[in-house]
Amino acid sequence: MSALPGLLGDTTARDYSRKLRLFNAFAEPELRQIIASLDLRPKARVLDAGCGTGQALQWLSDKVGADGVVVGMDLAAAHVAAARAIASPRTLVLQADLLRAPLRGATFDLVWCMNTINHLRDPAAGVRLLGSLLCPAGRIALGQSSVLPDMYFAWDARLERLTNEAVRQYYRDRYRVSERDLAAVRSLLGVLRQAQFCNVRARTFVIERVSPLGPADEAYLTETIFRDTWGERLRPYLSSEDYAELTRLCDPQHPQFALRRPDFHFVQTFTLAVGER
Ligand SMILES: C[S@@+](CC[C@H](N)C(=O)[O-])C[C@H]1O[C@@H](n2cnc3c(N)ncnc32)[C@H](O)[C@@H]1O
Repeated sequence: MSALPGLLGDTTARDYSRKLRLFNAFAEPELRQIIASLDLRPKARVLDAGCGTGQALQWLSDKVGADGVVVGMDLAAAHVAAARAIASPRTLVLQADLLRAPLRGATFDLVWCMNTINHLRDPAAGVRLLGSLLCPAGRIALGQSSVLPDMYFAWDARLERLTNEAVRQYYRDRYRVSERDLAAVRSLLGVLRQAQFCNVRARTFVIERVSPLGPADEAYLTETIFRDTWGERLRPYLSSEDYAELTRLCDPQHPQFALRRPDFHFVQTFTLAVGER
């Protein structure tokens, strides 16, 4: 296991399984669409590197069928336990650092790696290692949410900009990472080319929601974004007026709660970059 925590603080003991479950329930339609775009053939062998709480394991299994193989791998014990609890008995879920994967080389037809490569201190090295697990002509699919800025408050771009800036400042203080350290998130294509993959291509999908929202949308946005990503932690980085406005918009009990506004319109991008070995 890595001695140092990952760039965003991942360790074997870190647990944000609730956040991962909420995100996957929210984005399931688009994530399934992204998996479908890969045209996986039945019997294919797939590794989900950084599988988190394991929701994609079943979506991938649905595509490769009973004769295919799906393996999940994650660093965090709690995420692995959550993934094992929902995985089919045929799906192996390993607790391992993807930089030291206990897997034979040239085994997989696809490595699926969502929102994980940006957690590594050296994404290109991680991608090269994952590439070594691919069979000849095997593919790696790297996914990343929010490559373009998200829209949360369609009616107030100013507050949204200040909120995003406050989140960056919070991250800078909490994880001691600067915007420069996080810049590589947008360069999935560059990372694949640097690691010598062929036929590299990219496609951006849009996760878009308007009011009225369904329960999975409301749960993810309220709990993961409004409460756990923003909330009290942003108070030091906003003026008192802006913080008060944000608090009203994020409070389900308040008449101004953003998700019940008729003009609520959320846009988030999810970019997929695919390369071939
Ligand atoms: C943002 S989560 C994404 C999880 C999942 N792919 C999803 O889309 O829901 C990143 C995951 O990568 C795992 N992770 C971070 N560094 C890792 C490493 N070096 N090896 C294996 N897993 C790692 C974390 O434990 C976490 O589960």
